[in-house]
Amino acid sequence: MSKKISRIKKSKSKKKLVCLTAYSKPIARILDKYCDIVLVGDSVATALYGMSNTKNITLQTMLNHAVSVNKSLKKSVLVFDMPHNTYRNIKEAKKNVKKVMNHTKCDAVKIESNGRNFKIIKNLVDSGVPVMGHIGYTPQFKNKFKVQGKKNNEKKILLNEAKMIERAGAFSIVLECVAKRVALHITRSLNIPTIGIGSSNNCDGQILVTDDLLGLSGFYPKFVKRYANLESIIESAIKKFKKDVKNKKFPANQNAY
Ligand code: KIV
Repeated sequence: MSKKISRIKKSKSKKKLVCLTAYSKPIARILDKYCDIVLVGDSVATALYGMSNTKNITLQTMLNHAVSVNKSLKKSVLVFDMPHNTYRNIKEAKKNVKKVMNHTKCDAVKIESNGRNFKIIKNLVDSGVPVMGHIGYTPQFKNKFKVQGKKNNEKKILLNEAKMIERAGAFSIVLECVAKRVALHITRSLNIPTIGIGSSNNCDGQILVTDDLLGLSGFYPKFVKRYANLESIIESAIKKFKKDVKNKKFPANQNAY
């Protein structure tokens, strides 16, 4: 296991892990200064490509974004989110993950759990690939948004799933939209760090989609805190540009050769 991955694993209960998504070099350059983990998420499908869900983003598109992101990263761990239908069985997972590792030079891959694919995670880990798990609301396998773990039987299933993923060798696990008390129970029961999104502060770290926290995606559910409103900042700049062009103020002499 690389030093970077081992550091993430050992950080459990010692410090909160700061994680965000990036799809491009300029954003990754900023994130690298502040993040432990940068994820090239399949959320690129909805955030950037206007798709209604994450199921149809292609491996090739994700590879292109990851290559761009990795041009900026010096210290953060780069995790590549394996897209839907690229790890349906061990053979397919190994082939595609090999391509991802060779092409992007990322540090790890993330695999969404469907409650059955533990052997795939184990095989990848055994072949030397660090894997981040992902349970709770897993958009690749669920059609309708719902907070996970509200019912008592769900709590047991989620805890079991998390433990199976830890046993398969994952170095960390994302808990997406998991009820607060269940997130606490899972975090206390595992030896690997839990990274929450919409799963309360009862997790070892937090991740958000950067475009959401910057106010650029138009998607603001309860669990997203908007730290900026880039949409209005960009709009005001574009309005000024338009005005200057119309009034023949741009380009001025200093902008011309
Ligand atoms: O694709 C993504 O951005 C993710 C995070 C929300 C965890 O999977």
